[in-house]
Amino acid sequence: MQPPANSAEPVLNTLLQRRTIHAYRRDPVDSRAVERALEAAIHAPNHRMTIPWRFVRVGRTTRARIAEIAVRLRTKPGIPLAGPIADEIRSKLLDPPELIVVAVVRQPDPAIAREDYASAACAIQNLSLALFAQGIGSKWSTTKVASDAETYAVLGIDPAQQEIIGFVTAGLPAAVPATPPRPALDTLVRVLP
Ligand SMILES: Cc1cc2nc3c(=O)[nH]c(=O)nc-3n(C[C@H](O)[C@H](O)[C@H](O)COP(=O)(O)O)c2cc1C
Repeated sequence: MQPPANSAEPVLNTLLQRRTIHAYRRDPVDSRAVERALEAAIHAPNHRMTIPWRFVRVGRTTRARIAEIAVRLRTKPGIPLAGPIADEIRSKLLDPPELIVVAVVRQPDPAIAREDYASAACAIQNLSLALFAQGIGSKWSTTKVASDAETYAVLGIDPAQQEIIGFVTAGLPAAVPATPPRPALDTLVRVLP
């Protein structure tokens, strides 16, 4: 297997420059670009080729239902949530041009389940990098609403069969955050003879 010619710099730049994007422009995202990124996602490494990842591209009608679940989760019994806070919660789910829910197929064997989760994390990273390479920002979030039973029902995911491991929002970035600093490499890497 040969790397594509002249690919090192673009690939390394993509890896180093990708950032988690929290705010998106309203412009729609090219659907073909999302499909290409999902194709990249399913090329994640996968020990035993269990094909453990599942993706749901969630439109705004369904998102509106999930947003109401998110509002409910933030509401204390008997105390209505302040309007602006509720609107902010709704906006986080409704404003991004794309929402992709990622789930992993449950496995009775804990060792395989662990490997499958690792593969799903690789799939999400492939997705994010492939989106970024096409100019699209994204964010992997493990929001509380992702694990709510009603969310599973709305998305048509059987919690006995699959576990939701992330909500991935995507869109053209409205702002790119500064790079969160990483420690010096030599504090994390040891070299043994
Ligand atoms: C498993 C996982 C869950 C995450 N969940 C959230 C989240 O719920 N909310 C959020 O703002 N960012 C979330 N992130 C993104 C991280 O905050 C982000 O990767 C980190 O700040 C480093 O920034 P960078 O991705 O731009 O390098 C998550 C990342 C991972 C890997």
